[in-house]
Amino acid sequence: MSKLSSMSQVELEQLHEELLAQYKDFQGRGLKLDMSRGKPGKEVLDHSNALFAAMENYTNETGIDTRNYGNLAGLPEARRLFSEAFLDMPAEQIIVGGNSSLTLMFDTIGRAFVRGVLPGMTPWGKLEKVKFLCPAPGYDRHFMICDYYGIEMIPIPLLEDGPDMDQIESLVAADASIKGIWCVPMYSNPDGVTYSDDVVRRLAAMPTAAEDFRIFWDNAYCVHHLYGANRDHVLNIYKECEKVGTTDRPYLFASTSKVTIAGGGICAMAMSPANLEWAMKNLNVQAIGFDKVNQLRHCRFLPNAEAVEALMERHAEVLRPKFALVLEMLGKELTEWEIARWTNPKGGYFISFYGPEGCAKKIVSLCKEAGVVMTGAGATYPYGKDPQDINIRIAPTLPPAEELATAMELFCLVVKLCAVEKALAK
Ligand SMILES: Cc1ncc(COP(=O)(O)O)c(C=O)c1O
Repeated sequence: MSKLSSMSQVELEQLHEELLAQYKDFQGRGLKLDMSRGKPGKEVLDHSNALFAAMENYTNETGIDTRNYGNLAGLPEARRLFSEAFLDMPAEQIIVGGNSSLTLMFDTIGRAFVRGVLPGMTPWGKLEKVKFLCPAPGYDRHFMICDYYGIEMIPIPLLEDGPDMDQIESLVAADASIKGIWCVPMYSNPDGVTYSDDVVRRLAAMPTAAEDFRIFWDNAYCVHHLYGANRDHVLNIYKECEKVGTTDRPYLFASTSKVTIAGGGICAMAMSPANLEWAMKNLNVQAIGFDKVNQLRHCRFLPNAEAVEALMERHAEVLRPKFALVLEMLGKELTEWEIARWTNPKGGYFISFYGPEGCAKKIVSLCKEAGVVMTGAGATYPYGKDPQDINIRIAPTLPPAEELATAMELFCLVVKLCAVEKALAK
């Protein structure tokens, strides 16, 4: 039972007045804080400043002059880096792209719409309807891509060990217009969920009515452990697909956006030989080659998996206190009230907050009016529709600790204010 449910109307009204006065005080402070996106903070970005050291030469290990056109699939050492440190896939099944894995995902769907997922397959654009399964809460930009292509989104509850597989299996078995699913298998955005072995195996093996069903395996946070050895592990989806003969099903993605620099990292996608051949044939029309100079300097800065691991530990040293601060404030301010719950992730970039039902939009809007911008409520659900209006994504990575503390102070106050207003309206 929440603290509020045992209070009388008069007590509630008095509490409301107190909280409102505190809120008005915040409004008068002229705050301008942004907690809306999961961006790396300056300190984390600075850990990769060695990237900007002048390059003495531009020739790679096999003699390629990286300043020139060509090598569309990426430098051998860049493919090897993604193979060893991120994707656990053979280097020859990896394409290294530009600075954004999201662009690779967008283009992969674009190719499916115009040319089909493999030669001879019907382009999705020729079909009356294309649907995707969207584990939710999830990454808002995946949902934006679906919106852009007119793909109907089917929300799937995200449970503690991954998406609800019972629902998924029955949906994909029955409906050939379901062509894909978004998966963030490790430290998911925003809930920090890592898929269990059972979930990965079921995704690989489930029968699908659509012959051209694809898993968009967005492993954006695969090296983003917060607590060193106490880390999650996720099965390699491709290897599970190999065991059951579904190797064309997954596209695997990763990038260094939150490893080196978010605006100028490198990204990659891995897939079956057949998918790769088709992707290359189509990509060849789109580009002559990605930025190999950037690939080369990344490989010099991060020559192997150990270098990535060491850099990520330095990042974790910066991030741990920020996550701890948010968790501590939520705990101190809200536990006793029993009006909310939140995640305590072992990695990734977010804390996912579940407040009083029907209040998320109001909380975000009141925070904004007092100068703290949070991720829009609803953004973590397909079509921006959180059915319970309950989830808010907290992104602690960007603001310095002092600003984070102020933002969280306001946030907790606003949550209480909304809970009291909800109780009074009853
Ligand atoms: C799940 C997920 N995928 C992809 C991205 C973006 O990746 P990139 O910078 O490689 O485009 C993000 C960024 O927040 C993310 O959270």
